[in-house]
Amino acid sequence: MKILVVGSGGREHSIVWKVSQSPHVKEIYVAPGNGGTSDIAENIDISVNDVVGLKQFAKDKGIDYTIVGPEVPLVSGLVDEFEKEGLKIFGPSSRAAIIEGSKAFSKKFMSKYEIPTADYVIVNNPSAATDIIKKERFKYPYVIKADGLAAGKGSIIIKNKKEAKTAIERLMVKKEFGVAGETVIFEEFIEGVETSFMVFADGKRGFPMVTSKDFKRLENNDEGPNTGGMGAISPSPYMDYDSIKDVYERIIMPTIYGMSLESRLFKGVLYAGLMLTQDGPKVLEYNCRFGDPETQAMMMRLNTDLIEIVDGVVNNTLKDMNIEWSLEPSGCVVLASGGYPEKYEKGKEIVGLKRAKMIKGVQIFHAGTKKEGNKVYTNGGRVLNVCASATSLKKVMEKVYNAISFISFENMVFRTDIGVEKEK
Ligand code: AMP
Ligand code: GLY
Repeated sequence: MKILVVGSGGREHSIVWKVSQSPHVKEIYVAPGNGGTSDIAENIDISVNDVVGLKQFAKDKGIDYTIVGPEVPLVSGLVDEFEKEGLKIFGPSSRAAIIEGSKAFSKKFMSKYEIPTADYVIVNNPSAATDIIKKERFKYPYVIKADGLAAGKGSIIIKNKKEAKTAIERLMVKKEFGVAGETVIFEEFIEGVETSFMVFADGKRGFPMVTSKDFKRLENNDEGPNTGGMGAISPSPYMDYDSIKDVYERIIMPTIYGMSLESRLFKGVLYAGLMLTQDGPKVLEYNCRFGDPETQAMMMRLNTDLIEIVDGVVNNTLKDMNIEWSLEPSGCVVLASGGYPEKYEKGKEIVGLKRAKMIKGVQIFHAGTKKEGNKVYTNGGRVLNVCASATSLKKVMEKVYNAISFISFENMVFRTDIGVEKEK
């Protein structure tokens, strides 16, 4: 088979790595890929948002399956365009991807299907927003969110009236996130532990993956700004059999069922970002795709052939399959460019990768990297994902941090507390 993976992050590198282990697969292409994917696949210089270019490439090459990593092409209808041409592709249609593309949609959807989430109000104009701020409809802190995709930066925690006014000014008046901020959501702040829950969805059912937890804040102890994710572990230490069952029954099932009732059949990966609260799990956000960096950790544990799963989702045969995962835990730490998630420099030489990779059980998935000859350079905010699996989380993290000790580039930053359990 010939496979095309769309994306250029650590998530996509780990997907390519897993796909490359499939006996069904002969050729793998990645658009546009990174400095790591080129070692095991062919990078193609087509942007993730170039629908026409991707479609043409898939047709010309006779691609059997396309797997889409990031949300933007899903929300804007890449899957729909491929399907119109009879090309097989893994991911939700744009009608289903709206579950991530619009927070207003997802909040209303959750209310309608009684899926637990934080209390909220949706507003469409600055004067309605000002009214809510003035009347102090939510007690502090609360959250103001842009409706549309804002690359993980659209949620602002509000501690007082002044911050609320500034947030509305930025989102609705200055339109810092463009149309994404034309509608905003005011949301109650909910306390608890965050965890990620992903399932393979075939439109009718969800097939749970192993649990995982990502670490979104830049600095140790969950301090500093939110990022795309600075590390992940699998399983989530906060989920046991009962809580998995609870999430599945109260959140995943009604979501997939509700989407089918809305004529928005959800096929692909459904990701529920959860807050485990004293009143049970609540949905913070949905994603319509694999999480990044959770996927890097989870691919280390997937024993079943990923292409067989993709085939099962596309052809509605997933229910006949048994998806197997390793019982050994895994973890992933992100090495980032100093300055990320704000401004950072690119083009720094990365050294020590070969030595780090020699540690048994360690895999390094590239994100923002570029290869020139035999050298690898930084090319983004999140640069590398150092992952490992072992018999215990403690051993996993020892391997990861040992591997990291060999790697360096100018201004490299990373968290040193990933996988270190604390009493909450
Ligand atoms: P989101 O943009 O919805 O993914 O939110 C980004 C991050 O903001 C989440 O991962 C949480 O850490 C935090 N967050 C979002 N909504 C809430 C909420 N209602 N209560 C507490 N924290 C939140
Ligand atoms: N790790 C969070 C995300 O993929 O959105």
